[in-house]
Amino acid sequence: MTRVLSVASECVPMVKTGGLADVAGALPAALAGCGVEMRTLLPGYPAVQAAVAGGAIVADLGDLFGGPARVRRGTLGQQVLYVLDAPHLFDREGSIYLGPTGNDWPDNPERFAALSRAAAHIGAHGIEGWTPQVLHLHDWQAALAPVYLQDMGAAERVGTLLTIHNIAFQGLAPADRLDALRLPRSWYNPGGIEYYGQISALKAGLVGADKISTVSPTYASELMTPEFGLGLDGVLRDRQADLVGILNGIDVESWTPPYKTPRGKAAHTRALRADIGLPDSDGPLCVVISRLTQQKGLDLLLNVLPTLLDAGGQLALLGSGEARLESGFRDAAERHPGVAVRIGYDEALARQLIAGGDVILVPSRFEPCGLTQLYGLRYGTLPLVALTGGLADTVINASPAGLAAGVATGFQFTPVTANCLRGAIMRMCALWQSPKDWQKMVKNAMAHPVGWDQSARTYAALYESLKKVP
Ligand code: ADP
Ligand code: GLC
Repeated sequence: MTRVLSVASECVPMVKTGGLADVAGALPAALAGCGVEMRTLLPGYPAVQAAVAGGAIVADLGDLFGGPARVRRGTLGQQVLYVLDAPHLFDREGSIYLGPTGNDWPDNPERFAALSRAAAHIGAHGIEGWTPQVLHLHDWQAALAPVYLQDMGAAERVGTLLTIHNIAFQGLAPADRLDALRLPRSWYNPGGIEYYGQISALKAGLVGADKISTVSPTYASELMTPEFGLGLDGVLRDRQADLVGILNGIDVESWTPPYKTPRGKAAHTRALRADIGLPDSDGPLCVVISRLTQQKGLDLLLNVLPTLLDAGGQLALLGSGEARLESGFRDAAERHPGVAVRIGYDEALARQLIAGGDVILVPSRFEPCGLTQLYGLRYGTLPLVALTGGLADTVINASPAGLAAGVATGFQFTPVTANCLRGAIMRMCALWQSPKDWQKMVKNAMAHPVGWDQSARTYAALYESLKKVP
């Protein structure tokens, strides 16, 4: 058995803003059959505290960045959770990352330095007689742990893996917070945590963790280029030998289509149109479930919407994020009867869209892995995606070769421009006209493996290689 502490800033079912929560929530069960005992450390936001209410206090961390901090134990099904109970940092209503003004909480550096420090403490001292052999750190919010671990003199005993879910979030803090964050001055240099005159939490993990992974092989390669590395590509090139891409899976039990045949799916498409206020149609119903940010490329979709509608297609979109995109899609829905838009976060509607859609659109400028195209595959809702990151690694394009070989599962386009997206939409609408080819693709998509099996085995082998003590 390898003992692994997974450290994440969000985790289903308690708190989720994106795919990281799904991954953190799914890993422990996925790994249980591979000889890994994974426990999870989370910040004590109200929803997490509620889930472990009454759980015993198992560690006292003293004063941590301005208030008392303790670790509370809880369970979730078979899983053991450790919760960083530090009300001055986490007992707040609203978004877990953003304050009421829509900007980052000003003390985010302290909040997640505290999470990293709690992780290092558990690595260094153990908890309840359980000492992890490996810390699996997710994104910048956990990335300072290797620095603290070294400072506590435990880096020789505990292995560390940093997983990059999205390099666009780097956890920057002003350099004058170094002492306040209890970071050793010796780390503040360009080969350490210094990043253009600031402290970068993510860089601490990139230079300090024993291994680095990201969530698809293609994104692992992309990260080493200036276009995708966002200033950290040089650091990643230096660590190329320690960088690996491991694809995310999805929870295939939770995401099981309520139908087995195309006819079964058609009933869900009809119901979705009725519920969301779209007229009946013979054309393809395209769906989007997404954060509305620059990353996701949905401004391009706004641009080419007329092409989709002229070809008889429809769009149903669920998402929230940047104001300009929210209002752009709202306007489109007002102007076009073939467009339905729901701004907000709605788990049930997300599932209804995946089940009822014919096509799921993911035109991202970059996409470390992406989960919604995996839901699409599983539900026979064909993904139409940019050829980047995990979207490149999980979808087989309906190219002439892909169709001739009978293996295509979706549509890809590159480069990520409005013109190329338009081209892909036209190809998709053309294929819609040959139901036999379309049904073959639906069958291929539904048969494509999207679970955790293979990646869980890869993680297990990686943890094994990171063990420093028996
Ligand atoms: P990212 O993590 O970059 O947001 P992913 O595709 O990896 O992208 O994961 C997004 C997750 O969040 C998926 O599970 C998706 O269904 C969900 N999601 C995104 N926006 C919404 C929304 N508005 N309502 C419900 N679920 C959403
Ligand atoms: C990030 C990425 C997304 C990935 C998710 C889970 O939020 O943007 O592509 O699927 O993390 O790894």
